[in-house]
Amino acid sequence: TVHERVDTFHDNDQKPVGYGRMLRKEDPRFVRGRGRFVDDVRLPGMLHLAILRSPVAHARILSIDTSTAEASPGVKAVVTGAMLAEQGLAWMPTLSNDVQAVLATDKVRFQGQEVAFVVAEDKYAARDALELIDVEYDVLDPVVDARRALEPGAPVIRDDLDGKTDNHCFDWETGDEAATAAVFARADVVVSQDLVYPRVHPAPMETCGALADFDAVDGKLRLWSTTQAPHAHRTLYALVAGIPEHKIQVISPDIGGGFGNKVPIYPGYVCAIVASIVTGKPVKWMEDRFENLISTGFARDYIMRGEIAATRDGRILAIRTNVLADHGAFNGTAAPVKYPAGFFGVFTGSYDIEAAYCKMTAVFTNKAPGGVAYACSFRITEAVYLVERIVDCLADELGMDPAELRLKNFIRPEQFPYTTKTGWVYDSGDYEPTMRLAMEMAGYADLRREQQEKRARGELMGIGVAFFTEAVGAGPRKNMDILGLGMADGCELRVHPTGKAVVRLSVQSQGQGHETTFAQIVAEEIGIPPDDIDVVHGDTDNTPFGLGTYGSRSTPVSGAAAALVARKVRDKARIIASGMLEVSVADLEWDKGSFRVKGDPGRSVTIQDIAMRAHGAGDLPEGVEGGLEAQICYNPSNLTYPHGAYICVVDIDPGTAQVKVRRFIAVDDCGTRINPMIIEGQVHGGLADGVGMALMEMIAFDEDGNCLGASLMDYLIPTALEVPDWETGFTVTPSPHHPIGAKGVGESATVGSPPAIVNAVVDALEPFGVRHADMPLTPSRVWDAMRGNARPP
Ligand code: CDP
Repeated sequence: TVHERVDTFHDNDQKPVGYGRMLRKEDPRFVRGRGRFVDDVRLPGMLHLAILRSPVAHARILSIDTSTAEASPGVKAVVTGAMLAEQGLAWMPTLSNDVQAVLATDKVRFQGQEVAFVVAEDKYAARDALELIDVEYDVLDPVVDARRALEPGAPVIRDDLDGKTDNHCFDWETGDEAATAAVFARADVVVSQDLVYPRVHPAPMETCGALADFDAVDGKLRLWSTTQAPHAHRTLYALVAGIPEHKIQVISPDIGGGFGNKVPIYPGYVCAIVASIVTGKPVKWMEDRFENLISTGFARDYIMRGEIAATRDGRILAIRTNVLADHGAFNGTAAPVKYPAGFFGVFTGSYDIEAAYCKMTAVFTNKAPGGVAYACSFRITEAVYLVERIVDCLADELGMDPAELRLKNFIRPEQFPYTTKTGWVYDSGDYEPTMRLAMEMAGYADLRREQQEKRARGELMGIGVAFFTEAVGAGPRKNMDILGLGMADGCELRVHPTGKAVVRLSVQSQGQGHETTFAQIVAEEIGIPPDDIDVVHGDTDNTPFGLGTYGSRSTPVSGAAAALVARKVRDKARIIASGMLEVSVADLEWDKGSFRVKGDPGRSVTIQDIAMRAHGAGDLPEGVEGGLEAQICYNPSNLTYPHGAYICVVDIDPGTAQVKVRRFIAVDDCGTRINPMIIEGQVHGGLADGVGMALMEMIAFDEDGNCLGASLMDYLIPTALEVPDWETGFTVTPSPHHPIGAKGVGESATVGSPPAIVNAVVDALEPFGVRHADMPLTPSRVWDAMRGNARPP
């Protein structure tokens, strides 16, 4: 059932309900400018930290002279890598089993790498003193092209690693190579295409930063930091520093967007901690836009070859891909240990095929570390782009309509749960109605007719179709962990005597509206209106352990935890109600917010009455403790697999090659919908992301390793001017294993929209014989494609 209600907590019978459109509880403070972000936190005596970054991409450090900086007014300390090395703190583990320099000791390995830091009385004094630090570099040949990284004789970037003689990072494969080769050998049609998913940056509005406050008296460290995973970060700090978790409190207050950028642990956080310990004062580090773009977790940077085999009448038989992944100077991403390429394994998409195989090689280059999953569940964006582009290439080869080709090859509803050829088990899906709804909303047949007429007049109009299946909600304990930490989430619910409640989560919102939707989940289960339920998150001292928010995992994992903890409280409430109504538990029925005696609806007690009894005087049934609260840890049994059908209409100006996205139709299926208004907001944002990646965004480097996308003047992100009015729709296919049937949705649109847009542009360029052009499809690139010179980034 889908509840569609605006701003009401009661249905027609005046019973409280949870799901439905509800304005966001957090918005009154945000729209009044009263949010509390890391940079808003000020402590008495607080000092400021600034980081000196390498101007070059690859160089040996010969010497660092800090004496002038130390004497600069207001400066309290200047720290170099050598000083950190004396304490064993110059290197730190990454969330992908690599190590990363906190401050460079031997070499700098990318432009913007952390070399030294200054702590001063104010941020201006700290920044001014950076210019007084004298570093002597012996500049080395940089490697900026992933293809070159593997060439014999290429400079070895990671010579810090024992015995390392090349730039190889990891190899990974999935699927059955021989079986796939056999299917390819007997296929009527084989199409292959080289594709580049360029390096892009999540570019959250709030940059990264931290405020560290070490209290030497009780030995406790409090750290306000821009993190999407406060508990995981705390455990990592505890492991590195050898101090127990309860002596570290990580607080992530309001976060101004994360999109994967705030998953890694950055050197700046560690520097702030060290600085607070050294100076005995609270120390704040807040990076600027330039630092965020050049040094923090980038995304994508995959060079892919996709191959697809089919019968002449359009039955897809097999998909094969070879990927070269550029991970920058340190493998600074976060990925489940067994999946170094994340969930790229879903590259077979939404199609029922006979065989699949993927081989991947990852390399180090002299570029900022990362490979973070920018608004996607561990590399699904790249996988969806690959499959949705090559399916279009196949449609082109076969002369088939791309929507019809997809409809012909979808996994059918009766095949779910569906085990893919790479071993993933898609939980549920009903693809055809979703696709048909998108086509109906778009007026697909009419659009094709319009395109024919325009082509006859020499106008360039394109229609792009993409269909995606995501794998979100990492993840099942049996097969995934990050650095040995299981990907589960805790949840605690306390109902106060007055019937108001507090739910404590291990996940952390960065703008997704958790304060609203998690209150709605609990409300739906326990019948307390969402306005009476407070959501606490982002503070390790006040929330149960769990792995945090990224990869659209909050609703699939933590949302399940919230529903189950509420059911646990409801079970206890039922026993207390049976005592209050003097009937057996079996004689009670739940009526959203109250228990009533079966067959005697006049006799009932509300959840608020029960809460008062649980805490108050008066007898409780035998063996029942007072209070009304519960705690659980939820281990998902599988990921959830949302899907969606996207159709994009573009017009290209033949004189300037400028692409205009005229219409975009997005039909999403995320199972049970908690708050449709929030879902639409998530989808709108993700679609804008997609327009950015498809048409504008790229972090490029020159041959010396200088980052060419170091400001928002150079790294273009979309604004309201570049995006159309989105047309959204939905279907509902609940997840069978999720307690409320919900699947994640936060990243669906970022994942699904780039191929729809690129497919539309390529479709518009059909009169020029273009089969593929790489993102970002800027006017110059489209112009080149029109002239037969499509070039990779
Ligand atoms: O992990 P993250 O919060 O980024 O992603 P998500 O779990 O997909 O949720 C994004 C937002 O959409 C949250 O506020 C969810 O509760 C909401 N949502 C929803 O209302 N219904 C769903 N089926 C899925 C998400």
